[in-house]
Amino acid sequence: MLTQQQVSDWERDGFLVLPDLIDPARCDELIKRSEELVDAFDPASHRSIFRTEQQERVSDGTFLASGSRIEFFWENDAFDDNDDFIVEPAKAINKFGHAQHDLDPVFSAFSRQDPLPELVADLGMADPKLLQSMLIFKQPKIGGEVGSHQDATFLYTDPITVIGLWFALEDATINNGCLFAQPGGHRGPLRERFRRADEGGTEFVALDSTALPQLGEPDLVPLEVTKGTCVVLHGLLPHGSHPNTSEASRLAYSLHLIDGAASYPDDNWLQRPEMPLAGF
Ligand code: FE2
Repeated sequence: MLTQQQVSDWERDGFLVLPDLIDPARCDELIKRSEELVDAFDPASHRSIFRTEQQERVSDGTFLASGSRIEFFWENDAFDDNDDFIVEPAKAINKFGHAQHDLDPVFSAFSRQDPLPELVADLGMADPKLLQSMLIFKQPKIGGEVGSHQDATFLYTDPITVIGLWFALEDATINNGCLFAQPGGHRGPLRERFRRADEGGTEFVALDSTALPQLGEPDLVPLEVTKGTCVVLHGLLPHGSHPNTSEASRLAYSLHLIDGAASYPDDNWLQRPEMPLAGF
């Protein structure tokens, strides 16, 4: 489905912006399903677990098990000093993940819709496996920053094969926290790996000291996109997003794929022992 020009853009830039890839009605369907899942979730049962800085990376059993579940993560700024919600709980969710693409029929159908298999084949992935998914709310006013990173840090394979498909379920602008990425930055080295530590919990392991461009630096350019756009991200591409300080939410769905031919280390944070990876 990709033109030769798009394939060369991908190789040069490490990302591709594909406007109107997804029917807006399908975006609405995924938003509706997400709201149903949030409504069915009991915040009180999980409130203390995720009320920490770096909540999605804490060495917490729930986080480490989320590779084969659907778990909910809070915004840090959703609580006051007494740990009371400052917004309604449904507006305090940062994201949920990381296996709805296999566990929920609506998410599964979205993740496997045409032309995604053809798109991923055109990018050169021979045996795509759907590894991880996140519904990211980027809530109005409190949607937090996602610092500059490379996805291969978190979803490492040997060789590196991870590709991210980032779907704008709503318009994403500079005002509501769109993606920023470094064109050509995928040609740089992997800086660090996030892994399960031998002594339990998780840790970052430094691999290369080359500086990663940070949010606010000119190397990272904004990717403002409209609802229904798919942004394809190379696993080594530095990217991130600023906080959302606007009144508009910025819902996005991200799906990460790896090539089944690559080896997947058993110290990666995300493990799914009871649920083998599936393709399209
Ligand atoms: Fe990412």
